[in-house]
Amino acid sequence: MKTVLITGTTSGIGFETAKALNKAGHTILMLNRNAEKSEKVMSQMPQPAHVDFYRCDLADLRSVKKATDEVLKKYESLDILLNNAGGIVPEKVMTKDGYELTFQMNQLSHFLLTYEMLPLLKKGKEPRIITLSSEAHRAAKPDFDDLECENGYASFTAYANAKLYNLYFAKQLSKELKSSGIAANALHPGVVNTGFGDKYKGIIGSLIKLLKPFLINAQKGAQTSIHLAATEAGYEKSGLYFKNKKPAKPHKLAFNEEFENRLKAACIERIEKTLGYNPVK
Ligand SMILES: NC(=O)c1ccc[n+]([C@@H]2O[C@H](COP(=O)([O-])OP(=O)(O)OC[C@H]3O[C@@H](n4cnc5c(N)ncnc54)[C@H](OP(=O)(O)O)[C@@H]3O)[C@@H](O)[C@H]2O)c1
Repeated sequence: MKTVLITGTTSGIGFETAKALNKAGHTILMLNRNAEKSEKVMSQMPQPAHVDFYRCDLADLRSVKKATDEVLKKYESLDILLNNAGGIVPEKVMTKDGYELTFQMNQLSHFLLTYEMLPLLKKGKEPRIITLSSEAHRAAKPDFDDLECENGYASFTAYANAKLYNLYFAKQLSKELKSSGIAANALHPGVVNTGFGDKYKGIIGSLIKLLKPFLINAQKGAQTSIHLAATEAGYEKSGLYFKNKKPAKPHKLAFNEEFENRLKAACIERIEKTLGYNPVK
């Protein structure tokens, strides 16, 4: 049985993924920002004795570090890291760390989490890192000189950019961790009826509500995550983008080694500035 760490299990795809993997007998470490919701989720898990909760707010790098320190104290190894939590932010928000929220919660905090979990993953069995990207990456306009959106904020572009950065991150990890035997892939879950987009108000909010009944449900949306976590495919393949449980071709923007390196440097710079150390040891 495997040990699985997953972010964002309080709703949607993360909840269904955690539930299915727990039902299959795996131990689930849930990293969520909301303790009350997490307790409710724990009570809904098929095997609650094999679920652990750590409070982790992805909008706060110190909170991520605290959670990872607690995990490192308790666990000796980790088999699967699922960078699942994320979403779109209707209005520009700066986090307490001083970074744009969409970028921080979808990419920067998962970068810190991933590097902090590497010592455990290196001791895991067929270890793998799975990151939830999105087809939205096709609309990205990456700008490494303006990651904090000082030149203007458009919520969908910020989200598309973050999801493209997820692809750079998975690709960079796959190369860097090849010799350690850790696989890293990214995926698009489908267009799924979850809490995604619920924070929009006005016309956009109403349109999202109207569309939701036509989308696939979260159980279906969790299938590619579950496939990569629970089958050989998630370990044998690395550096790929999956859709419908199969490797898919991302937009040509996703093939850019210079941008992979710029993203890595940008994440390290921000973590060093906030936490005072470089997590890439
Ligand atoms: N739904 C889709 O159609 C779709 C399509 C492509 C990709 N995706 C990706 O799939 C992933 C899961 O999204 P979903 O659709 O399942 O959305 P969701 O139902 O809104 O779930 C998002 C999860 O992320 C958590 N989260 C949000 N901000 C957080 C923070 N600051 N710190 C810690 N946790 C935080 C939420 O926790 P709270 O309950 O505390 O808010 C929730 O557990 C995301 O990465 C999303 O970008 C979704």
